[in-house]
Amino acid sequence: MTKTITLIEGDGIGPEVTAAATRVVSAAGADVEWDRQAAGVDAMEAHGKPLPDSVLESIERNGVALKGPVTTPVGRGFRSVNVELRKTLNLYANLRPVETLPSVPSRYETVDLVVVRENTEGLYSGLEHTVVDGVVESLKIVTRKASTRIARFAFEYAVANSRKRVTAVHKANIMKLSDGLFLQCCREVAEEYEAIEFDDRIIDALCMQLVSRPENFDMLVLPNLYGDIVSDLAAGLVGGLGMTPGANLGDELAVFEAVHGSAPDIAGRNVANPSAVIQSAILMLEHLGMREEAARIRTALRDVLARGIRTRDLGGSADTTEFADALVRSIEAS
Ligand code: NAI
Repeated sequence: MTKTITLIEGDGIGPEVTAAATRVVSAAGADVEWDRQAAGVDAMEAHGKPLPDSVLESIERNGVALKGPVTTPVGRGFRSVNVELRKTLNLYANLRPVETLPSVPSRYETVDLVVVRENTEGLYSGLEHTVVDGVVESLKIVTRKASTRIARFAFEYAVANSRKRVTAVHKANIMKLSDGLFLQCCREVAEEYEAIEFDDRIIDALCMQLVSRPENFDMLVLPNLYGDIVSDLAAGLVGGLGMTPGANLGDELAVFEAVHGSAPDIAGRNVANPSAVIQSAILMLEHLGMREEAARIRTALRDVLARGIRTRDLGGSADTTEFADALVRSIEAS
C-alpha cells in the first residue's frame, strides 16, 4: 500500500536538497507519495503563521515527515518553526547518527557515534524576558519526566542497535540543580540496563575528548542546547554538515531532517550537498520498515562517493542535481 509522507521543503537550500532526496527515494522503488506542506517564511506570507495548523495536521495524519531546513530570524521575528514543531508534536528525542563514510574527506577514519539530544526543554523553552532595561532572564527548564524519557530512549536504542556504551553529557558541577537532575535521571535509568555501560562527561571536557579521540565514544545523551552544539561538532568529524542526518522522534510521530540549516550563503545555487537529507530519508525508510529501499540508497551513496563524485563542500565539483543524478543511475544499475 502506498505510504503518504508529509514533505516540508523548507527554505534556503531546503527545496534543492529535498528535491534530490525525493528523486532518490522514488528511484529506490519506495512506494510513497508526498503530502507537500509549507512552513516558515512562505507559510507566514500565505497563512499569517510560520507553522500553520495544516502542517501539524498533515504530520499527525501521516505519522511521518521528511523536512528541509527552515530559517529562523535572529533576535526578532517569529519563533523557530523547528523548535515549535518538536514541542507541539512532542518529538522528544533527536537522534543524530554520525559515521565516517569511506572516501569522504575528514580528519578521522573510524567515527561511529550516535548523538541523542533532548528535544523539548532546557534552554529552548523560549521563556525569556527583560527584567529591567539591560538585563534579560532566560529560563532553563529541566524536568525529571523529560530527562528520564530521553535517557530511556538512549538505552532502548542502545539495546536495539547493539550499542555498548551510553555517555551522559552535562555541566552539573556548575548547574548543580538543573544539569544535576538530568545526570541523576540518566544514572537511575542506567541501572536498569546492566548490559550497557554507562559513564558521564562534563560538556567542556567532552568537546576536547571528542575532537581528540572520537572513536572512544559510542552514544552520547545530552540536554537540548549541548546536544545541538555537539551534533554540529560531531558532523565536523565526518565531513561536515552536508553529511549528517537526523530524526525527531516521539512515541507515535517522526520528523526526519538533516542537522544542517538553510545555508543562506549557498542557497539557490544548486551547490548544496543533499547527502544529509538523503541519509535522513534512509532513516525514515528504515523507520517505515522499507529496509530494502533504504539499503539500495545506502549502497548507492557509498558507491557514488567511492567513485569520487562529490559536492563542493567535500572538495568535489558535482552540483546538487549532478550528485542526485549519479545516485539515481547507481540505484538503477544495481
Ligand atoms: P547552516 O547549517 O545553515 O550553515 C552552516 C554552514 O554550513 C554554512 O557555511 C553552509 O553553507 C554550510 N552547509 C550547511 N548545510 C550544507 C549542505 N547541505 N551542503 C553544503 N554546505 C552546507 O547554519 P546557519 O547558517 O547557522 O543557519 C542558517 C539558518 O538555518 C538559520 O536561520 C537557522 O536558524 C536555520 N537552521 C534550521 C535548522 C532546521 O531547520 N532544522 C537547523 C539549523 C539551523
